[in-house]
Amino acid sequence: MFIKHLIPNAQDLPEGQALNITVEKYNFLVTKQQGRVIAFENRCPHQNKPLNASSDEVFDEDHDYLKCHHHGALFSPLDGSCITGPCQGNHLKKAIIGIEQGNCYLLFA
Ligand code: FES
Repeated sequence: MFIKHLIPNAQDLPEGQALNITVEKYNFLVTKQQGRVIAFENRCPHQNKPLNASSDEVFDEDHDYLKCHHHGALFSPLDGSCITGPCQGNHLKKAIIGIEQGNCYLLFA
C-alpha cells in the first residue's frame, strides 16, 4: 500500500531550488529540473545522514548539483547519482511522483 502525500505548490518551485518535506519518519528533497518535479529521499548513501547539515541549502554554490554538506558528495539532481565524493557511484533513493488533477504527490511504500 502506497502513502500519497501532497507536495504543496510543487509546480511553482523554481529550478535549482529544493523543498524539504517530512512525511511520517521520512524526509524528502523535492526539486524541479528541466520542468519536471523530481524527489529523492534526503539520505546520503555515504553515512545515511540528511544532505543538509545545519542549513536548509542542499544545492552546491552554482545550483547545479545536490550537495551533501557532511563530506561534500555531489549528486545529479536528475537521477541522484553521486558524481564525486566518498560515495561516488552510489545513488540517492528516488521517490515516485504522481500527478493528479494538476497536483503533485509523493508516493512511497
Ligand atoms: S554523509 Fe554525505 S558525503 Fe558523507
